[in-house]
Amino acid sequence: MTFSQFAFGLTAAFLLPWTAMVVFPFFSMRNIEPVSFDEIADGKEGLYHPKTTGRVAKGAQVFAENGCYQCHTQVIRPTYAGNDLGRPDWAGLKTDPERGDTRRESNVFDYRAEKFAQIGVSRLGPDLSNLGRRVEALYTKESNSDPRTWLYLHLYDPRGNPERPTSTCPSHRFLFEERKITGQYPLEALPVETPEGTYLVPTAAAEALVDYLLSLKRDDALPASMNPAPAKPAAAAPAAPAAPAAAAPPQG
Ligand code: HEC
Repeated sequence: MTFSQFAFGLTAAFLLPWTAMVVFPFFSMRNIEPVSFDEIADGKEGLYHPKTTGRVAKGAQVFAENGCYQCHTQVIRPTYAGNDLGRPDWAGLKTDPERGDTRRESNVFDYRAEKFAQIGVSRLGPDLSNLGRRVEALYTKESNSDPRTWLYLHLYDPRGNPERPTSTCPSHRFLFEERKITGQYPLEALPVETPEGTYLVPTAAAEALVDYLLSLKRDDALPASMNPAPAKPAAAAPAAPAAPAAAAPPQG
């Protein structure tokens, strides 16, 4: 091998992945145009515009500060890259009581409220793309508490949940505050054992984090133009193209 071949090989080995993984995504995603719903394909008009609020953005910051992304991804890969859609509670709900199958892949709009798209580093813990959906659907019954409290208890002591005695999600007790009881037992106290005469409440950071976690519902209906595998439309849609065919037999 000559030196120039070596130099060319080395440059290509760097340049090709860099183009595919940095340059191409940068140029294709830096200036996202709004996508419209199509009246025929989607049954509604207007722009696709997912909503988010201020406290959720603060919670995203708490999520980043505590390195949750080290163990939790927030990206549902396209099927050619992995079977994430096959997990009913990762990509959305398989049987949502109102919308049926809501599972879908992630898209760029899913991260628009966040300064950084926290797609995650590894998957030691489950993907959190649709955690809000999941907690609301599953855990309300499991722990006999509301989704908010379920998340507070998980953050405070993941192994405190009798269903998960070996959880390796780290405890984030520093996001909670023990206070002295003065007067009546406070309503906002979390159902956790604390030393005599004290009670436990989440700090503002924990509240924002849980707001953020509950907001993770990336299974809203997409315009058909953006969805590579749209759920099959309800049977109610009339089969328009079939009509001329039905008229054909009398001729023959
Ligand atoms: C060291 C890796 C690690 C880090 C860091 C981590 N987690 Fe976890 N997490 C896990 C593992 C493993 C599980 C699965 C076991 C369980 O359910 O407790 C989990 C489970 C969870 C669950 C339950 C998900 C479900 O669907 O059952 C939530 C919610 C959660 N983590 C939130 C967080 C948040 C918020 C942070 C940051 C403040 C965080 N985790 C940081 C490893 C981690």
